[in-house]
Amino acid sequence: MKRLSLLCCGLLLASPLMAARVEVMHWWTSGGEASAVEVIKQQWRAQGGQWQDFAVSGGGGKSAMAVLRSRALAATPPAAAQIKGSELLEWARLGLLRDLDELAQNQRWDLRLPGFVRSTLSHQGHYVAVPIGIHRVNWLWFNRDVFTRLGLEPPSTWAQLQALAPRLLAAGITPLAIGNDPWQLAILFESIVLGDAGNEFFRRAFINLEPDQLDSPTMVALLQRFKALRPFVPQHFGGLSWNQATGMVMDGSAAMQLMGDWAKGELTQAGLQPGSNIGCLPAPGNAEIFSYNIDSIAMFSVRDPEQQAAQVQLANLLMTPELQILFNQKKGSIPALAGLPMGQFDSCARQSSQALEQAQQGGHLVPSLAEGMATSSYVLQAVTDVLSNFFNDPQQTAEQASHRLRRAMLAAR
Ligand code: BGC
Repeated sequence: MKRLSLLCCGLLLASPLMAARVEVMHWWTSGGEASAVEVIKQQWRAQGGQWQDFAVSGGGGKSAMAVLRSRALAATPPAAAQIKGSELLEWARLGLLRDLDELAQNQRWDLRLPGFVRSTLSHQGHYVAVPIGIHRVNWLWFNRDVFTRLGLEPPSTWAQLQALAPRLLAAGITPLAIGNDPWQLAILFESIVLGDAGNEFFRRAFINLEPDQLDSPTMVALLQRFKALRPFVPQHFGGLSWNQATGMVMDGSAAMQLMGDWAKGELTQAGLQPGSNIGCLPAPGNAEIFSYNIDSIAMFSVRDPEQQAAQVQLANLLMTPELQILFNQKKGSIPALAGLPMGQFDSCARQSSQALEQAQQGGHLVPSLAEGMATSSYVLQAVTDVLSNFFNDPQQTAEQASHRLRRAMLAAR
C-alpha cells in the first residue's frame, strides 16, 4: 500500500517514499528541449517517482494539442500536460483541469510569482497550471562570424534588415532562417508588428481586436514588410523545423533567425556559448518590448487518489527554485519564480531577465500572439491561416490580406 501524508489545510502531499507515477504530455522534443525535460525526469526519479513520457513533436504544440484532445475525448487524459496561455482557459472552461488553489496557497504563489504569470495561470480566479519558465519571443539570433566577415552590423530596425539582406544573399548566405510553418511565420510577423508599429498598435489590433485597426493602412504596411522578406528565406523552407532553422544559423548557412529563446536551448545543447558566436539581440525595433510566452504544466482532474497525490508531488517539484534554475538554463527561458539569482545563467538569459523587469516598469510587456498568450486559440488559428496564405501566394496583395485578417479574426472571436 502506498503511503500518503496529510498536511495542514487538507492538502494531500505524496510522501517521498511512495513510487508516484505520472504521465506527462509535452512537445519538448528538440535536442535542447529534451535536455531540459531530462532535468525534470531526473529530479522526479530521484524522488522515487516513475515518469511516463508522452511527447508529441512539433514546435508551437499544435500536434500535441490535437493528440491531447483525442485523449481527453476518450476520457483517458494524462495526469499532467504542457498547456499554456489561452488554451488553459479553454480546457478549464470544459471543467477538465484540476484547481490548484490549495497548493498555491500553501506555497504562497501570490507572493512568489509575477502578476502577469499569475493572471495567465488563472481561470475565474483559480489557478489551473504550474508555471515553469518565461520565454521571450521577440529575439533576433545571428551568426556573428557571418556579419563580421561581410563587414555588416546586425540590424536594429526592420528597414535595416531588409536593406542588408540582399548583401547576404549575394554572398550565398540565407538571410533569414525560417520554415514554412504557420506558427514560425506568425512569430516573424508578430516581431514585425511590434517593431514597426509598436505595442500600442499591437494591443489594439491583436488583443482588443479593434476592427478598424485590423484593416488599416498600418496593417497593410506591416503585411507588405512581411511579404518583402519572402525572397530572404531558405530556398527549401517547406518542412523546415524551427530547430533546423536554428541549425542553419549555427553552421553559418543562414545569418539570422527570429525565434523565441527556446532557440537558445539548441545552442547550449550544441556546446555553444549563447551571446558569443551566435549573438542575441531584441528583434528589430523591439528593444524595449518584451513579448512573453509562459510555459506551464496543467493537471487533469482525476479521481484516483494516488494520481492526485502524484500530481501534487510533481507540482511541488516544478515549483522548486533548484528545478526552475536547472530546467531554464537548458530550455533557454528564465524561471517563472520571481527573484531567483541569475548569476549562473548565460548573458542572453540575463539580458532577458533585465528586459523583462524594464518592460514591466515601462509598460512594454506584451503577451505573445503567436504563442497563444494574447487571444483565443480560434482567433490565433484565423491569424496564422491568413498570414501563411498571404506569405505563400505571390498574387495576394497586402490590402486583400488585411481585409481577410479582419474578417477571419472577427468571425473567430
Ligand atoms: C513552447 C516552448 C517550445 C517551443 C518550440 C513553444 O510553444 O512554449 O516551450 O520550446 O514551442 O517547441
